[in-house]
Amino acid sequence: MKKIGVLTSGGDAPGMNACIRAIVRCGVSPKLDIVGIRRGFCGVLEKDFVNLNPRSVANIIHRGGTFLETARCEEMKTQGGIKKAVEILQQEGIEGLITIGGDGTFRGAAALVEAGNVKIIGVPGTIDNDVYGTDYAIGFDTAINKALDALDRIRDTAESLQLPFFIEVMGRNRGFIALDVGIAGGAEDILIPETETNIEELCLTMKRNFEKGKKSNIIVVAEGDDAGGVFKVAQQVWERLKLEYRVCILGHVQRGGSPTARDRILASKLGAASVDALVNGMSGYMVGELKGEIAFTPLKETWEKWKELDSNLLQLIKVLAA
Ligand code: F6P
Repeated sequence: MKKIGVLTSGGDAPGMNACIRAIVRCGVSPKLDIVGIRRGFCGVLEKDFVNLNPRSVANIIHRGGTFLETARCEEMKTQGGIKKAVEILQQEGIEGLITIGGDGTFRGAAALVEAGNVKIIGVPGTIDNDVYGTDYAIGFDTAINKALDALDRIRDTAESLQLPFFIEVMGRNRGFIALDVGIAGGAEDILIPETETNIEELCLTMKRNFEKGKKSNIIVVAEGDDAGGVFKVAQQVWERLKLEYRVCILGHVQRGGSPTARDRILASKLGAASVDALVNGMSGYMVGELKGEIAFTPLKETWEKWKELDSNLLQLIKVLAA
């Protein structure tokens, strides 16, 4: 293999730059030409390529976002788009591709593997951490730390004013961010899509908390929770308890900023392993990390198999909010 491409696709995640850097620098010794593809699969279809060398990835390890930029490419969901992408990669002599992103990215990658003779390795990069086959995706650790920082600040004001706060975090249709942030931030409760939300029970918990002398009630709500969004939850609680409250949606603040050490290290390890895998002829797999060891999972399983939340943490949240 002489030439490989690298792209980032879907929502950006802090640590993607560190991963691209690792891929480029690990490609030096097997003498690979590395092509950066801008704006994900859209960049393949538009031939938006840039040659990368170890110097072109200098001073990016500490930067959030992705310097290759990213996109969600609708054309890649069509047979025509996939055919066109395979043809362009062949014309350009790109024999291998490393795709960094989440399940949408891996669906595109799997379709390409099936359609042509390009070899592809996926690397999990999503703050949602909802990809099967890796304990952590690149960006998750940074996102939970950004959200935690915000929650800690909110606690100061919540306690001073003795007001309940409903804080919405990202995670799409999963509760990984909410669960970890709730535990680390000492939330009184968390509402996540994986468990049914019972507003009556939540009200009872909040009422008891105030009766126990708690000054604040911090409720972390995952954006995908089945109760219909943080404002709806807050409104329903207000209708029952008539307690003044505040709502805070953390939004994209969670996705930006300098990656944590953990994310930079994970990104570097997975970037290196993805180059190794391609050079050794592997294709159609995502490289992740399970219990500290590099692990390969067929791309299709990354979105078809269900990644479990830590059930111990789910239990703990109730106990620790005593
Ligand atoms: O998948 C990452 C993510 O940040 C989700 O948590 C969120 O639901 C979504 O992307 C937001 O997408 P956008 O940046 O397009 O608004």
